Amino acid sequence: MARLLLFGGKGGVGKTTTSTATAVGLADSGLKVLLVSSDPAHSTSDSLGVQLGPVPTPVEGVDGLWGLELDPEARISDHIPKLTESLGPMLGGEDPELNASEMVLPGLDEAMAFDELLKHLENPDWDVIVFDTAPTGHTLRFLALPEIIEKWADKIIRMHRLTGGIRALMFGAKEGEKMREELEKFRRRVLHVRRILCNPDVTRFTLVTIPEKMGVNETVRAHESLTEFNLPVSGCVINRMTPDLNHSFIQTRRENERNNVEQLKSNLPELYLHEVELKDSDIHGIDSLREMSSLLHGDIEIDQGLGPFSIGLGLDVHRGTWSEGDDVFLHLPGIVREDLSLRSEAGIVYVGINSREHPVPFDRSAKASQVQAKLENEILKLSFPPE
Ligand SMILES: Nc1ncnc2c1ncn2[C@@H]1O[C@H](COP(=O)(O)OP(=O)(O)OP(=O)(O)O)[C@@H](O)[C@H]1O
Ligand SMILES: [Mg+2]
Repeated sequence: MARLLLFGGKGGVGKTTTSTATAVGLADSGLKVLLVSSDPAHSTSDSLGVQLGPVPTPVEGVDGLWGLELDPEARISDHIPKLTESLGPMLGGEDPELNASEMVLPGLDEAMAFDELLKHLENPDWDVIVFDTAPTGHTLRFLALPEIIEKWADKIIRMHRLTGGIRALMFGAKEGEKMREELEKFRRRVLHVRRILCNPDVTRFTLVTIPEKMGVNETVRAHESLTEFNLPVSGCVINRMTPDLNHSFIQTRRENERNNVEQLKSNLPELYLHEVELKDSDIHGIDSLREMSSLLHGDIEIDQGLGPFSIGLGLDVHRGTWSEGDDVFLHLPGIVREDLSLRSEAGIVYVGINSREHPVPFDRSAKASQVQAKLENEILKLSFPPE
């Protein structure tokens, strides 16, 4: 399982810049990195100067970096067709303008985005996934979904029967049961996403802010709501600090900013704080992103093996896969034996993680029955037969 690094904060503070720069720096250091954005404004493509789409696309000019823009339209219908089918008529009716799924299940589309993210996270091919999130708060509404569903399941089903009319009266019980099953399946999936997001060996949040009072207050609130869900927050980037220039206006601003930073420090003493100055121009294109990465992380040194490796901002990363001779090692924190399966087809061995299968990177063909598997300390060791 890859590492997941999320960057959150209010609008315009530098989430896309810091997340994209981190992804570029990690790829430059030799890791295989997927940069994911859920921003419908295509800001990640703009920042990199590369057009990204809904499947991982190699980023020209940075070996080891792929980019992906999640398509907000595709999410719900792609992933839980049955759930939306059964909820659809009751929620949105015939009116496409009415996104009424939001009314009953707030955060459904975010849940889908994270479910999609999980698919990539479980893919042993990736070492690190960097997620440029939409402004915090909104993004993470879905974390409360399992409890909402539990509380509302009966009500949702009753409402469904009411809006379904005669047909639902006749088939009510059966349809209700089907819907209950779909809701339960969905609830479990969101719980699984939450489990992964709360595992500090997989996921780390970095808050991004600016040294203004409003920015500081918002960051303290964001930190509060993230920790309420036990989401691991490691650090905070204070971006756009006014540089030290000899002018009274500048010096007054700096003094203000210093006070705000101190306030942030005293509110969040356990957080790793990192200041970045305002540059004299926007940060666009790969060269400026490389510069930004060294401001954030210094030189990123990645040795042999699975890791972990420290990269600045109080963050660690590790490789998803490592091979040595006939052994392949997969880093699978939070995964238990029951979540795993092994199968082969046409000489390719697939590892199933929570019933999603991924090909195991190995340079010779093999059968699953010839492969020895051992899960120990969150590492799955697959021993292939000698040549
Ligand atoms: N330290 C900096 N110095 C100069 N310009 C910066 C700095 N950090 C970010 N910028 C510029 O500020 C603008 C906003 O940054 P960015 O797009 O990263 O913010 P964001 O938090 O992702 O915004 P949104 O909430 O809209 O997604 C961009 O044009 C970026 O190039
Ligand atoms: Mg952005």
